[in-house]
Amino acid sequence: MTTGRVEAGKVEDFEDNSMTPIEVAGHEVLLIFQDGRFYALEDRCTHDNGILHDGELLDGAVKCGRHGAKFDLETGRPTLPAVKKIRLYDTAVENGKVIVSYQEN
Ligand code: FES
Repeated sequence: MTTGRVEAGKVEDFEDNSMTPIEVAGHEVLLIFQDGRFYALEDRCTHDNGILHDGELLDGAVKCGRHGAKFDLETGRPTLPAVKKIRLYDTAVENGKVIVSYQEN
């Protein structure tokens, strides 16, 4: 099993509705802070590799700037033209710091 875990910064460093690209164990990850919650997902669109942080943050979703697929921040489910879910990462706040982690079998 492979695991990865990074400290992405202090909670107060993130503005509401911010998108921050980070790296977690060699993966490009997009960290989002919205309505008091952190979300983390792969930063590459499952349709054709569009960079999601170049897209747009909507209410509860991120929209790819290339062809408009939207990915739900809670479930990773896409809208067309993407059909494959986006990988989600775990987020947590520990001692005022934002932790992003993942594990893979
Ligand atoms: S690359 Fe993202 S919608 Fe096509």
